[in-house]
Formats: sequence, C-alpha cells, structure tokens
Amino acid sequence: MQTTARRSATTEDDITSEVLRRFEATPDVRLRQVMQSLVRHLHAFVKDVELTDAEWFAAIQFLTETGHMCDDKRQEFILLSDTLGVSMVVDLINHRKPEGATESTVFGPFHREGPPEMAAGDNIAPRDSGTPMIVSGRVLDLGGRPIAGAKLDVWQADSSGLYDSQYADSSELHMRGMFHTDDEGRYLVRTVRPVYYAIPDDGPVGRMLRATNRHPWRPAHVHFVVSADGYEPVTTHIFDDSDPYLESDTVFAVKDSLICHFVRHDDADERARRLGIDPPFYTVEFDFALKPRV
Ligand SMILES: [Fe+2]
Repeated sequence: MQTTARRSATTEDDITSEVLRRFEATPDVRLRQVMQSLVRHLHAFVKDVELTDAEWFAAIQFLTETGHMCDDKRQEFILLSDTLGVSMVVDLINHRKPEGATESTVFGPFHREGPPEMAAGDNIAPRDSGTPMIVSGRVLDLGGRPIAGAKLDVWQADSSGLYDSQYADSSELHMRGMFHTDDEGRYLVRTVRPVYYAIPDDGPVGRMLRATNRHPWRPAHVHFVVSADGYEPVTTHIFDDSDPYLESDTVFAVKDSLICHFVRHDDADERARRLGIDPPFYTVEFDFALKPRV
C-alpha cells in the first residue's frame, strides 16, 4: 500500500518546530531571535504543565482583564511584570553598573510626566499631614566629583500610602517635584516620611497574589530619576532601613545599596528652622553616583 507524505505537523514537538520554521524568514534578526525564543519557551511551559483547555481560557481571560484595567493612570501590565519579577530581571540586564555607581531599581507604574519645578528645600508634600522629612545629598561622578545642574525627578506615595494618581480627583500633581543640584552637586528635598503601601490589588494582579498566598506590600521608599548631561540617568528608590517589608517587597525591587537610615530628630536645628519644619522630623542623606554616558 502506498502512503502519502505527511504534510501537517501532528505531534506536540512537530508543532513547535513548524512554528519556529515560520519565523525563519523574519528580516529583522533581533525580532527573529525574540520571536523564536518566545515560541520555544512558551511551548515548553505549556508542555511542562500540560495546560488544560480551562486553564488556557482562564489565562486568556486574565490577560484580557489585565488590559481592561489599564488606562492613562492605572498600568496593570506593569504591576503584573513587577510582581512576576520580570521588571527586575530586565532592570538587572539593562543596567549593569560599574563599582560605585548608584544601582537602579523598578520604575513602577506611578511616575507622571511634568512634575513641578522646585528650588532646593521646596516641599513636595504641602498637603500631607505625615511626619516631615528632609532628603539631602549630592550627585557625583564615579570619581566623587560633584555634578552641577543634575536633575532629580522625585515622587512618592503620601502618608496614606497612595499616589496622587490613585485618587478620584487626580488632576493636580502632588508628592512630586523636579529638583536641580547646585554648583557643589547638592540637592535638598522636603517631603514627609514615606510609609509602606500595598500595590493596587483590586484587579487581576491582586487576585493572582491572593490565590498564591502572597502579600501586596512594598517597603517605604522615595522614587528618583537622576540625570545629567553626559551621564546615564539612573531610575531608583531609597528605602527605609526599619521597614518590615524590606525582605519581601512584592515587586522584588530592594537592593542593599539603596537602604538608608532615616534619622529622627526631636529638636529643631538651624536647617529645620530655615525650612519652617517643627520637630519631630526625619532626615536622610543619600549621594547618587552617575556613570558617564558611552
Ligand atoms: Fe512606589
């Protein structure tokens, strides 16, 4: 009996090979590499867990809901990437730093464009009732020389643990500012002591965390993007060394070099008086070191 040559892929592995083959002619070499690797890993994952029809459909629904949660203020896909640790792997691959350069960490979903321009000592938290805090330090090059005119885009959650964009009326920017270093590379930010907060967990990412017995908490931090002409910008946080969630940040973003001691003061000093701050208040010092742009 004569058999006809097989024309279709019929086994699980045949399908994988055939899909890889279909991407062979991709003109962009990098796109070809990415798509073929994605197919290899995605197929391997599906075969590894022997995904059921119901699970496949649940995954489609989960991703659909994740998309539906997104608008110009809520970015559920970034939360998903962050809580799966993907954002930090991407960060580590893309920002390998020489010794001495400030380490980066996640950008997060709460940055907003166009923060108000601020002078040294200006308050980013004028409507917040939290404990005042002064963040100060310098922006330096890798040789320890000051960088004048560096920009510091600063943002943080308020003392209720919420960013301005999470309120119903979020038209006004709050807890944000753009600062600049002086001729000695110094910066001075007035704010309130940050608190630990839960990432928004009323969407599919929150359901994933609850279903897997994970908590939604992030340790207290202040966000920075520090940039200067001729240097690579760094996107980072500073963390409070007394925070209970330092070792279990739900987005895996803590690095030892970014943990700072927030010092409590019960008496006003000259600087606090000049800034109009009544005790108690906190201070924290952090120097940023930027690597030259190549
Ligand atoms: Fe944050």
